[in-house]
Amino acid sequence: MVSYKDLGLVNTREMFKKAINGGYAVPAFNFNNMEQMQAIISACVECSSPVILQVSSGARKYANQTLLRYMAQGAVEYAKELGKNIPICLHLDHGNSFELCKSCVDMGFSSVMIDGSSLPYDENVALTKKVVDYAHQFDVTVEGELGVLAGVEDEVSAEEAHYTRPEEVIDFVSKTGVDSLAISIGTSHGANKFKPEQCTRNADGVLVPPPLRFDILEAIEKQLPGFPIVLHGSSSVPQEYVKIINTHGGALKDAVGIPEEQLRQAAKSAVCKINIDSDGRLAMTAMIRKIFVEQPAEFDPRKYLGPARDELKKLYMHKCENVLGSAGKA
Ligand code: G3H
Ligand code: 13P
Ligand code: ZN
Repeated sequence: MVSYKDLGLVNTREMFKKAINGGYAVPAFNFNNMEQMQAIISACVECSSPVILQVSSGARKYANQTLLRYMAQGAVEYAKELGKNIPICLHLDHGNSFELCKSCVDMGFSSVMIDGSSLPYDENVALTKKVVDYAHQFDVTVEGELGVLAGVEDEVSAEEAHYTRPEEVIDFVSKTGVDSLAISIGTSHGANKFKPEQCTRNADGVLVPPPLRFDILEAIEKQLPGFPIVLHGSSSVPQEYVKIINTHGGALKDAVGIPEEQLRQAAKSAVCKINIDSDGRLAMTAMIRKIFVEQPAEFDPRKYLGPARDELKKLYMHKCENVLGSAGKA
């Protein structure tokens, strides 16, 4: 049993309180490897933002759970070495069982998500409460989810979305004791968040998605004033990356994300954690593809992973400074 407190990590409680009062959202960036972790930490140190390092169960399988945990521990020291002791939370993204959440709590995570959103309501309540009862013994915070996001990825998949029902949130939060609630108001996972037929096209032929359901968000906030709300599936799918990928041998079709202004608006509300993974994948892929095409003789991984890492750092700083508003809040 390892306590996150001994690793220099923090849970989300204080982070979220400050974010709600300050009208910004804390970034939750997924990581699977060293370059992503370095980019996240160096960006958040440079712009002085608190940060949530997210590990999915797919990431645990890919990179090994022990290595990832030590990397997060290393991230705390790395931030100090870079000159700033920013608040860093290590969070399990989309935990799908009590056992997985328990294992993360036991190995030093400071926060876990139990995603029972695809279960019948009563089963979601029971599973979430079981995780909360365990995690709270160690002061580990828990994120639950109500409502289903569409989108298909390695470990997270749903054919159809359904929005969170505001009339359920008080009952869910009081029965489970969760510290934060992920909701469904029109975001979804991955780089193809909407079908082209759900969108309109602007003058440049770029797909414009339907707006997020701010009316549902407001209704939820009315039910749970000041309670921390989480938005998953919040990549904006920058079209400049899509273009670089597609002009350097890639084949991303109809990729569309959530417009940044809408995320900015959400971050000013009770939304205090915004999850971003796909945009980082796009930034890395764009840089690597470009270098492979422009410098075909290059075979030193540092020569393509290094520029990919630089681009990622730029992207993360932009998110903190211009989208989430978390820069300067560490
Ligand atoms: O919401 C899911 C995250 O983007 C993690 O994706 O399961 O492919 O690691 P993954
Ligand atoms: P994106 O696929 O939009 O980056 O969402 C990531 C996410 O929600 C991780 O939990
Ligand atoms: Zn998610």
